[in-house]
Amino acid sequence: MLQALGIETSCDDCSVSVVKENGELVFLSQKHQDSIHKKFGGIVPELASRHHEEMLLFLIDQALQEVPLSDIDVICVSNRPGLLGSLLVGCVIAKTLSFSWKKALIGVNHIEAHILSPLLFEKKKPVNSLKYPALAFVLSGGHSSLFYMRDIGSSELVADTRDDSAGEAFDKMARLLGFDWPGGPSIDKWAKKKSKTKAPGFFSKIKTDDDSFSFSGIKSQAQRLLSNKTKAWVQKNKAQICFDYQNRIVNHLMEKLDQVFEKKPVPSILLGGGVSANSLLRERLKKWSREKSVSCWIPEKKFCMDNAAMVAFTGLQYFLRGYRDDLNMICSPSHLEIDFFKNPVK
Ligand code: KG4
Ligand code: ZN
Repeated sequence: MLQALGIETSCDDCSVSVVKENGELVFLSQKHQDSIHKKFGGIVPELASRHHEEMLLFLIDQALQEVPLSDIDVICVSNRPGLLGSLLVGCVIAKTLSFSWKKALIGVNHIEAHILSPLLFEKKKPVNSLKYPALAFVLSGGHSSLFYMRDIGSSELVADTRDDSAGEAFDKMARLLGFDWPGGPSIDKWAKKKSKTKAPGFFSKIKTDDDSFSFSGIKSQAQRLLSNKTKAWVQKNKAQICFDYQNRIVNHLMEKLDQVFEKKPVPSILLGGGVSANSLLRERLKKWSREKSVSCWIPEKKFCMDNAAMVAFTGLQYFLRGYRDDLNMICSPSHLEIDFFKNPVK
């Protein structure tokens, strides 16, 4: 079975992985930069790329202590979208290794990698295989999108955010409540401590008049709600605020999914991106899938946030379809400069 070495440096997570063509994880190491960026309340691009440069070769060395170089068939790297400086570190190293080791090189769309992350596994191989077409949610710090996916390399954007992403909405509330960045996990945790009795709602339903998502309104509501409250009031209501805020966001996502599904019924739904770690969303999507008899693909928690395993796996699928990049491969902060998803060579 073929194996790929994956490199992920598109944003603030530096990660290296080795994955088999069936999605089985062989090796994964990750170096988060949360402690570096948290005092700024968001990612500082210059610091992110500098830390990738310090970490990446070290992580690749670790991978090679576990997996002999002769067992690696292809080098896969996130080359779009992302922060340019961060992408460049991964791409330059991947090209150098591809040239010196004489291994094939594949540039991977980070968004498509999130979409395929539910196909990764560590111990238990999924019993069924994924049936196309599928609807695929990508919910991360930078994206809130829903794709109609005909196959690997053939996806169409069917719903996108008009403004901010769901991840940004979680991070904004977390900042207002004084939680560490990234804030999604803290909101998720505090929402579980909500009062058992019927408590007041703080936020109104999120509405858009088409299939698009919108999170800027609820962010502003959060800002207004917390701007003139005492510390004691915030402390007392924290759990209920998190519960209500998270509920509104998840309701909005599920409502738009319903709308799109009515127009495009599919046998499978995929979920990917950091926000896919959210427990309420995972629960609601599983319930929705059972009701609609749709097969549900949700990533294991370790594959939700940015990681190189999803990059290795996605690149390997292109490799198996005959696709190759060369040393002229470019990386791009936007997914628009290079075709969004590659059309695999048949
Ligand atoms: O995919 P990701 O690791 O990075 C990007 O490509 O952006 O996503 C990071 C986002 C952050 O906004 C973080 O707050 C959010 O995922 N997140 C969550 C949870 N865990 C991470 N949001 C809600 N609930 C969670 N449990
Ligand atoms: Zn991501």
